[in-house]
Amino acid sequence: KLVDPTVIVVLGASGDLAKKKTFPAIFALFQQGLLPKDIKIVGYARTKMDEEEFYKRLTSGFDRNKKDPLLSKNFDEKLEEFKKASTYISGAYDKDDGFQELNKHLEELESNNGGKSNRVFYLALPPSVFADVAKGLKKNVYTKDGTNRLIVEKPFGKDTESSKDLISSIKEDWTEDETYRIDHYLGKEMIKNMLVLRFGNVFLDGTMNRNFISNVQITFKEPFGTDGRGGYFDEFGIIRDVCQNHLMQTLSVLAMERPVSFGPEDIRDEKVKVLRCIPPIDRKDVLLGQYTKGKDMDGKDQPGYLEDETVPKGSTCPTFAAMVLWINNPRWEGVPFIMKAGKALDESKVVVRIQYKDATPGIFTGIPRNELVMRIQPDEAVWLKMNSKLPGFATRAVPAELDLSYKQRFEDARIPQAYEALILDAFKGDHSNFVRDDELDVAWKIFTPILHWIDGKDSSDKPKPEEYEFGSRGPASIDEFTKRFGYQRDDEDYHWPTTKV
Ligand code: BG6
Repeated sequence: KLVDPTVIVVLGASGDLAKKKTFPAIFALFQQGLLPKDIKIVGYARTKMDEEEFYKRLTSGFDRNKKDPLLSKNFDEKLEEFKKASTYISGAYDKDDGFQELNKHLEELESNNGGKSNRVFYLALPPSVFADVAKGLKKNVYTKDGTNRLIVEKPFGKDTESSKDLISSIKEDWTEDETYRIDHYLGKEMIKNMLVLRFGNVFLDGTMNRNFISNVQITFKEPFGTDGRGGYFDEFGIIRDVCQNHLMQTLSVLAMERPVSFGPEDIRDEKVKVLRCIPPIDRKDVLLGQYTKGKDMDGKDQPGYLEDETVPKGSTCPTFAAMVLWINNPRWEGVPFIMKAGKALDESKVVVRIQYKDATPGIFTGIPRNELVMRIQPDEAVWLKMNSKLPGFATRAVPAELDLSYKQRFEDARIPQAYEALILDAFKGDHSNFVRDDELDVAWKIFTPILHWIDGKDSSDKPKPEEYEFGSRGPASIDEFTKRFGYQRDDEDYHWPTTKV
């Protein structure tokens, strides 16, 4: 149990991330009594607001908590307590006086703590102000009477060099131990389960290698487009938005060797090691796409990417990307890891699909391959697609599965939101699920050459993405692409229901 008096300061308190993710997660932890007793929440942003306006913003993303069966129970009563524990200060991100006022406010809040003060600073801010804010906090708001923790959110730079610059500028004032870089995929339940699934099951661990596996796919699909967020998105593109971080974290947990322990440094050492075995992605192993107008999942007309007013005219920014990564170590040599991510597609899901090699031919013809599938969202599930004899007199193989659907198997368990899990870890000082500086650096090295090529930075052959319709499965050549890397699609006679409850 956390007992030390602590204040969490959310900088960027009037922004979208704070509203949608940070505050609801802090409130969820508060409702469950998991935060330190007498926790104080302080919002900080440039916008001037009175108390009423702040409470409105603070609580505007709490719908999800209200709908959650566990959290709905004490919602109203806890909401009042939460508001009482929350205050707001407005100030600039690049001047001392706002931070000094913040510091004064924190000292007042802490005055009853017998000289003890622990401060968690959560930067829900655009990257352009990360460095200034980290500096301003260190100079003006850093406590000497307890711990200081700085939580930062992606994007951590745009390529190897800018990421290095950002890391070193924050490092001038904050130690690695005080810094918590969030990649919220590391807080997702299924990603956390991967370590247990892989290393706690001899049959899986024993077959997770080049002798048994033909190919691995990590797929991220979203059914909506940029939705007016095109200005931000166009500067980054799908690879920087989800592949270099979320999907790369997924890959490293999936492919790493067994760590010495569950300790944060042991886990992160192994992640870095496997990433270092991956050479930069080759241009010829990349397929890019951009969506045009079409229909969403509800059959409603949706504009194309270029029709979004916040997107620059004629942009060639990819909203879909498929690429292949190769891991040059004895376990994975020659096994393609196919990463696919896209916006404005036909469904919403994030799935890891490990496809085994063919059963030795002879007694069987055309028998489907085994597949181990981990569905990260929605509805966490793991299933192993396998062949079984169709019951009856004849010997006929049909595909079936061993099924671990969380909603069936762990009926009463509540799965915490990723941000809840991570914020709690930061309060506990546990770095296991945060991104270490060297991890970030190796991940960028894998993507930087293709990113510069896509940006048109180092040559005149800037690639043009293939068009795909809003609401489709992606560019038409995607199936050919995955086939090229050995994936056998076998959808005709095998369907896994999306929601198995
Ligand atoms: C964010 C990206 O980091 O992750 C978004 O910027 C994306 O574009 C989101 O939609 C996906 O997160 P989740 O948890 O909804 O899968």
